Amino acid sequence: MLICLLAIESSCDDTSIAILKDGKVLANIISTQKIHEKYGGVVPENASRQHMESMIPTLREALAKAQINLTEIQAIAVTRGPGLIGALVVGLAFAKGLSLALNIPLIEVNHLEAHVMSLFLNDRVPPFPFLCLTVSGGHTQLLKVTDHNTMYLLGQTLDDAAGEAFDKIGKLLGLPYPAGHHIDRLAKTGQPLFKFTLAKVAGLNYSFSGLKTSVLYFLQNKLKENKNFITENLNDLCASVQEAIITMLCVTLTKAAKQFHLTHIGIAGGVSANSRLRTKIQSLAEDNHWNIYIPQLEYCTDNAGMIAISAYYKFKKSEFADEKITALARYTISPILQE
Ligand code: KG4
Ligand code: ZN
Repeated sequence: MLICLLAIESSCDDTSIAILKDGKVLANIISTQKIHEKYGGVVPENASRQHMESMIPTLREALAKAQINLTEIQAIAVTRGPGLIGALVVGLAFAKGLSLALNIPLIEVNHLEAHVMSLFLNDRVPPFPFLCLTVSGGHTQLLKVTDHNTMYLLGQTLDDAAGEAFDKIGKLLGLPYPAGHHIDRLAKTGQPLFKFTLAKVAGLNYSFSGLKTSVLYFLQNKLKENKNFITENLNDLCASVQEAIITMLCVTLTKAAKQFHLTHIGIAGGVSANSRLRTKIQSLAEDNHWNIYIPQLEYCTDNAGMIAISAYYKFKKSEFADEKITALARYTISPILQE
């Protein structure tokens, strides 16, 4: 029997609905909320309102693209957390309504697990166990993945996430929110000429808040001498900041791979769309004899396709959610795995 699922993602500022038939995405509609650009970051209440507005049009678009009728859907998958409570509640309430109306089960998905599971939307999938670096706007995690939806935290950021570092430093540089892809684009014609102190953190953890402070002081000094310093050096500044973040990510990733003897390596989450990270990981793969797994760009930033594939493996095991589940702002992955 072909499994046909509908998945809903609403944890932050993207309303997304996907339809998956037998492990293949038929539609993955993403409605990105533009309102947050105006405020330089996500205002939770605005996000919830926008999800309310976009949910049904996004569903209609997904059904039309997939050429599927709601009656063909066998389960409704939804992000339960982590994320903004108000935003998650909109998605969960909509999912529960659909599951009740269609009389089909509900499947709850952890957004962070789903980022990792986005690797299973590729034709070439990683074998178990593999190491995954999840780099999003809210999280930076190193995970040992031992099965579909089974993963152990090896290390994580102690303060800002990598995506957050891109966004906050981008703001200092006068770039719109979210700044990650702007920095990526501008860095292509810049050189990493400026060097910043990189935090050294114990174990397999990360810290990015020091970099933001170091860039802030650097800019304040330079702007005293030349008020046009940022505009005159924007591309080199972007390349330098990007290089600092990517270097930090890759040093600890390499350490984790060696420590846990893992050679199948994946990256996932919004920052895995970064072109410099993608090329750097390829060159690390050649040096260290790794096999690399990277999501297609469409599945790097938040999307319901990854929620659907995560739910697909849960459906196969009949892991259905209770109808009383509520949203979780924090939703941790399994505790730290000791070597
Ligand atoms: O996974 P995601 O869509 O949302 C969360 O779960 O947080 O990640 C969003 C993050 C933002 O911080 C954004 O700036 C960053 O991913 N991002 C990038 C790029 N595209 C998105 N960072 C660097 N380079 C990119 N090309
Ligand atoms: Zn995400």
